[in-house]
Amino acid sequence: MEDQIDLIYQGKSYKFPLVKGAEDEAAIDIKTLRAQTGLITLDPGFKNTGSCESEITFLDGEEGVLRYRGYSIEDLANNSSFIEVAYLLIFGELPSADQLDKFEDEIRDYALVDEDFKIILKSFPKSAHPMGILSSLTSALIAFNPSSVDINSEKDFHEAIVMLLAKFPVLASWTHRKMKGLPLNYPNYDLSYTENLAHMMFKMPNKDFKPSPTLVSALNKLLILHADHEQNCSTSTVRMVGSSHAGLFPSIASGISALWGPLHGGANQAVIEMLEDIRKDGGDTKKFMAKAKDKNDPFRLMGFGHRVYKNFDPRAKIIKTAADEVLAELGIDDPILDIAKKLEQEALDDPYFVDRKLYPNVDFYSGIIYRALGIPTEMFTVMFAIGRLPGWIAQWKEMRFNKEPIGRPRQIYTGYTHRSI
Ligand code: CMC
Repeated sequence: MEDQIDLIYQGKSYKFPLVKGAEDEAAIDIKTLRAQTGLITLDPGFKNTGSCESEITFLDGEEGVLRYRGYSIEDLANNSSFIEVAYLLIFGELPSADQLDKFEDEIRDYALVDEDFKIILKSFPKSAHPMGILSSLTSALIAFNPSSVDINSEKDFHEAIVMLLAKFPVLASWTHRKMKGLPLNYPNYDLSYTENLAHMMFKMPNKDFKPSPTLVSALNKLLILHADHEQNCSTSTVRMVGSSHAGLFPSIASGISALWGPLHGGANQAVIEMLEDIRKDGGDTKKFMAKAKDKNDPFRLMGFGHRVYKNFDPRAKIIKTAADEVLAELGIDDPILDIAKKLEQEALDDPYFVDRKLYPNVDFYSGIIYRALGIPTEMFTVMFAIGRLPGWIAQWKEMRFNKEPIGRPRQIYTGYTHRSI
C-alpha cells in the first residue's frame, strides 16, 4: 500500500501521508491541507472523518466486529464482569484477581454521595426526565469534589475515576426513585456493582430485596455491551468538551446530554414508545413499516439502522439471545414483544431495509430486556449511560494523555457576503 496520496488542485500537486491503523484501516492525514492548499474538507456528521487515533475500541461495521482493547465483545459479555471490563477500558488490561479486588473495594469506599445532593434532587419536578437530572447531578459532582480534576496528579486522577464509577450508579438510581416518589436507597457494601445497582433502584423500604440471578446476569451483560463504542456522538462530545480542558465530570455530563437524543442512546426508550403506539393503534405493523418507508413521513423505525454497522450489530446478536433467555426465564407474556418480533421479521424481509442495510440495533433489544426486568421506560437511556461511563472515562483519559488539541472544526460560510445597514 502506498504511504501517501497525491491531490491535484489548480494544476499543482500536493502530497498527504496515509496513516494506517492496527487493523489495516487507512486514513489520509490532512493536518497540513489548509496550510498547503487553502482548502478544508466538508463532512457533515463526520461520516468520513477520523477525529483521533485511539487504542481503546476496534469496530468493523462491515463485518460486524466489536473489540475492547483487542478482546471480542462476545468473549467479554460471556466471561467478564462489568467492573473487569471497565478496568480493561480505562487502564488497558484486564485486572488480575488482586487488582480487581482492590478496584472493587475502592469503588465501594467512594460510593456515598454528599447528602446535599438530595437537596438538588428535591428541586426537580417529579416529571423531569431522569437523563436531564443525571446530567445535572454529574455536573454538580465537581462542586462537591473540586480537587479531583488534576490529570497531572496520578493519585487525584485515579480518585476521580473511582469516584465517578462509584457515585454514578447512586445518582442514576436516585433519578429513578425521585421519578417514582420513593425513598432513596444507599449502596450496600456487601453487594457487587451490578447487584448494588438493582438494590438501589428496586429495594422497597417495607420488603426484603434479593436481586434474581437472571436480573443481575442480564444487567451485567447489557452494561458490558454498552461500555464503549469508539467515536460515537456522546463519546465525541466527551472528548470535545474535555479538549478545552474542562474537567472529567462536566465532560461526562455533556456526554449524558448527547446520549439522551432519540437518534443515539434515547433510541431504546423511543423503541418501546413506538411499539406502544403501534399497539394502541391496533397492532398493524405493516402500516408503520409503510410510514417508515414514506419519504414524506418523518417517522423512522426506531431501533433499526446504524451509522457504522452495515451488516449486523454484534451487540444486537448477543442481546437478542439474552432477551430470549430473560423472557423465557421470567415467563413474560407481553403484547409489545409480539409486535417487536413481527416488526423485526418484516424489516428483515423488506427490500427497503435490506437494501439500505438497516438491521435491528442494540437499542431494539435492550429496551425489550429492560422492560421485562421491570425498569421503567424513562430509565432506559440512564441504563445505557451507566454502561457507557467507563468508555467515556477511557476516551477522555486517552484524549488528555495524548495531549490532543482543542476540538474546533471549520465551516464553509454560506450566508450573506458583506452588506451595509
Ligand atoms: N427507519 C427508516 N429508514 C431509515 C432508518 C430507520 N430507522 N434509518 C435509516 N433510514 C434510511 C434513511 O431514510 C436513508 O434513506 P435514503 O437513502 O433513501 O435517503 C438511509 O436509510 C440512510 O440513513 P441515514 O440517516 O443517512 O443513516 P445514518 O447513518 O445517518 O443514521 C441512524 C444512522 C442510527 C441515526 C439511523 O439509522 C436512525 O435514525 N435509526 C433510528 C434510531 C436508532 O435506532 N438509533 C440508535 C442507534 S444504535 C445506538 C447508538 O449507538 O447510539
